[in-house]
Amino acid sequence: MLVEYMHRLIALIASILIPFNAIHMWWMHRKNRLTSRLALLSMLFLALQVALGALIVVFVLPGAFTTIDVANSFLLLIVLSAMTAVGWREHRQKTKQPSAEKLQTDADRAKRFRLPVFFALGTIFLQSLVGGYFRHSGNSQALFGQHSYLLSHHQRQVPSEFEALFWLVVHISVTAAVFASVVWLLTVAMRFGQYRAGAFGLLWLVIYQIILGFVTLQTKLSVISDTLHFAGANAMVGVAGYLVAQVLLDLSAVRIEAREKTRRKMVPAHS
Ligand code: HEM
Repeated sequence: MLVEYMHRLIALIASILIPFNAIHMWWMHRKNRLTSRLALLSMLFLALQVALGALIVVFVLPGAFTTIDVANSFLLLIVLSAMTAVGWREHRQKTKQPSAEKLQTDADRAKRFRLPVFFALGTIFLQSLVGGYFRHSGNSQALFGQHSYLLSHHQRQVPSEFEALFWLVVHISVTAAVFASVVWLLTVAMRFGQYRAGAFGLLWLVIYQIILGFVTLQTKLSVISDTLHFAGANAMVGVAGYLVAQVLLDLSAVRIEAREKTRRKMVPAHS
């Protein structure tokens, strides 16, 4: 009960902060189409999240439907990461005032990262959906003969042991693709001395996810390890989304400038 209320409270805080952030970003960068679109997208994904959550609760939809809710929340996270990348770029450009040549050099370097960074985000996103489906379709519980999750969704038909094992194998196989994509990104990052912190961050996070994944199995889906595993997936999506935005911003060599605060004209009191 307490956990449910905490979830509702945090959802309420997020649904106040996300529109506040979107309006602020839009107001400060009204002339910048990219920022306005990101602000609008964050509002759209938030509205969808609220609608999906309400649909699931009111109509007690099948557990697997929650995978769509999970997918939407990851998309919202990617948009918020991209907005963060825009904010940091603006801050850095304000303090460092990079020349046109420096922006061009960064754009040339970023070209090599286009493919690896998109591949990393793609595999991580896919893996998070496979994990979400594995959990919410009741397959992970079926591995251990447990079905409480599906029963709470009024579902009597439970996955077979074969189906449960199949999804576990898919989840582990996609991990190999995630690992390969992160190693590729890191290799390019080391070679060209760019985006190294983000690429290393992703490497540590995959290792963390693999360890936590096996701990979750070993503990027969303990709530703590599953929650930490889900948090790791969020961190991976967030970092990969930030890196994609950074590469795209560097590629476009864009200068981000906030709108100047309007200064009041000084009018002498007695003229
Ligand atoms: C890049 C690596 C991985 C990512 C991003 C990832 C992501 C996820 C996500 C998002 C979930 C759903 C969690 C939830 O909704 O509560 C999940 C579930 C799960 N994952 Fe992973 N995973 C990864 C690797 C692994 C590995 C290597 C294993 C171990 C074999 C594993 C085992 C599990 C298990 C057992 C569940 C079900 C947890 C439950 O039902 O309580 N994962 N994963």
